[in-house]
Amino acid sequence: MSPRYESSRRRYERYRKDFEAKRLTGAVEIGPSKDEIIGTPGTGTRSFLSLLRHFFKLLAGQRTRIVLALATLTIATLLNLVPPAATKVVVDYVLVTRPDRPIPPFLTDRLGLPTDPVRLLATVSVGIVVLATVAIVIGVWGRWQATKTTKRLQVSVRRRVFDHAVRLPLHRVYALKSGGVVSILREDAGGVAELIFSMIYNPWRAVIQLGGTLVILTIVDWRLMLGSLLLVPTVWLTHRTWISRIRPLYRDIRASRQHVDTHATESFGGMRVVRTFGRQRSESGRFTRNNHLMARQELHTWWWARSVDIAWSLMIPAASAALMWYGGNQVLKGVITPGDLVMFLAYLAMMLAPLATLASSATQLQNSLAGLDRVLDLLDEPLEMQHHPGTIKVVPRRVPGRITLHDVGFIYPGSTIEVLREISLDVMPGEMVALIGRSGSGKTTLCNLIARFYDPTSGTIELDGTDLREIDVESYRRLLGIVEQDIFLFDGTVRENIGYARRGATIDEITAVARLAHAHEFITELDNGYDTLIGERGVKLSGGQRQRLAIARAMLANPRILILDEATSSLDTQSERYIQASLGELMKDRTSLVIAHRLSTVIHADRIVVLDAGRIAAQGTHEQLLAESELYRAMVYLQFRGESLESDDAGTQRPS
Ligand SMILES: Nc1ncnc2c1ncn2[C@@H]1O[C@H](COP(=O)(O)OP(=O)(O)OP(=O)(O)O)[C@@H](O)[C@H]1O
Ligand SMILES: [Mg+2]
Repeated sequence: MSPRYESSRRRYERYRKDFEAKRLTGAVEIGPSKDEIIGTPGTGTRSFLSLLRHFFKLLAGQRTRIVLALATLTIATLLNLVPPAATKVVVDYVLVTRPDRPIPPFLTDRLGLPTDPVRLLATVSVGIVVLATVAIVIGVWGRWQATKTTKRLQVSVRRRVFDHAVRLPLHRVYALKSGGVVSILREDAGGVAELIFSMIYNPWRAVIQLGGTLVILTIVDWRLMLGSLLLVPTVWLTHRTWISRIRPLYRDIRASRQHVDTHATESFGGMRVVRTFGRQRSESGRFTRNNHLMARQELHTWWWARSVDIAWSLMIPAASAALMWYGGNQVLKGVITPGDLVMFLAYLAMMLAPLATLASSATQLQNSLAGLDRVLDLLDEPLEMQHHPGTIKVVPRRVPGRITLHDVGFIYPGSTIEVLREISLDVMPGEMVALIGRSGSGKTTLCNLIARFYDPTSGTIELDGTDLREIDVESYRRLLGIVEQDIFLFDGTVRENIGYARRGATIDEITAVARLAHAHEFITELDNGYDTLIGERGVKLSGGQRQRLAIARAMLANPRILILDEATSSLDTQSERYIQASLGELMKDRTSLVIAHRLSTVIHADRIVVLDAGRIAAQGTHEQLLAESELYRAMVYLQFRGESLESDDAGTQRPS
């Protein structure tokens, strides 16, 4: 990652250099760190055709509506081709009439136009208004369909990205960071739907308009048509030259935006730390520098994007002038009529206008394509725990809950340190096992493995003799009730937070578990009782209150396997003892793993496992360990001596 306080100008210069290098070798990015980037870094962008294919796949289900929109668009566009022909009629047969050029019988006989100039003029004028109205009504209806489809697609792409992102492996979620994921959801996934307009609707209109005018021009004068055809390779060339450069630039801007969003989200998430250390200014400085870098990248891209526009703005007057010169000469020579020339000029404008729109929206198209590219990268990332396709689903009622670890070793993804080694442990159904050990010895990690947030790097974990890898991970997690060391509560009411453990839980069930967790009393004292909003992450509650909500939540899950990681560490001794009693009740026929630094809470466990630097140092009941383990004796001695100094109350807990 770039050094923290590097100025945005230096970072931008480095970016430019890297960008040139990347074009040659296909590597390096700047701004976000490698991990934050979605997709495999260095693989470059997908080709336009591959993006197009993927986009059509995303459109599944919307195709009928799009075809409908395109059909109406075709009708409206074709109707719009009529008025210039009408001007020719007016010029040649009303304004500049000549005896040697009578009104063609085709117009009078087939279309039923009057021969009298004044009536002809009136009929044509009324006709144009009627046609225009019909074209507008049809066109607007089609556009409305297309717009609705855009919104539908936007929602469905966002949902797919969300669905995928919530199933990514934990370490990927951590690497992308919450702000980053939000950025991808909002900016990139949101922009994909724009492609309906920039890649289908607008180009289709241009094709119809171009095709229609070419046909008309061919009928009138094929040389003019050939001249106009020259525009096609020009379009292709400008496209080839610029577009290949623009999309990677937009991709990088989007990566920068993700970085900016990530940082902002993090600053506000850690607002208390920011304030404690008075770092508001440096956070805002960092935010601004990141924004400056993004602005520089955007300005850099502006030039590339505008080059396309400028080329087109030059082409339109040039083409009109050429036509006027050539056509004017033809009129003077008497080959074509003034009406023909006026009509040509009108058609040329009609032909160029959609092309110009296409050209100017080409950059927008590249921007959306870059977003699609990133979205596809994210969707390509493997989901968590997909080793075995034919996994079995477990049903809580039929699970005894024996957990067996065979020689388990674990290294966190992206790390090299083995935090757990040779762990073998057999936890019987209904047994309560306590994990103790120094901070950093791997207790939480072991629970992470049992909860299957990660799979072990070596060895196996089995539930009732079946390897966890062969069990459907979502059905397995439904067996669990976990109170994590770092408690997370959602911004919502107390009732919603407890009820999160089980869909459709009634208020009675929620109150019952709240009573068991000794949370009912404080909840009823809150402003709105169970309907009190607790703020983001539960900021409006005390640490101990948050823990009690988390315990109630785990209880409501009615788990087969209960994992309590320092679940009562923030409580006073009195409340802790009450909760221990209800937890003891709850644990009766459930397998449970309890982590606690306060040994008094785990002394009564069926078995105590002492972890030391990732290994099991000793295990047994409290008495056995006292007799056998030097390490355990030392821990007990240190703690109870400390506690008895603190309060006499702890004396009653002193082990014999
Ligand atoms: N996501 C992670 N990525 C890499 N290493 C990690 C990660 N989480 C924890 N570790 C490392 O794993 C080791 C064990 O951590 P763990 O959280 O299991 O300790 P613990 O026994 O629960 O400690 P405590 O009592 O302080 O909660 C630590 O050295 C820690 O640095
Ligand atoms: Mg821990």
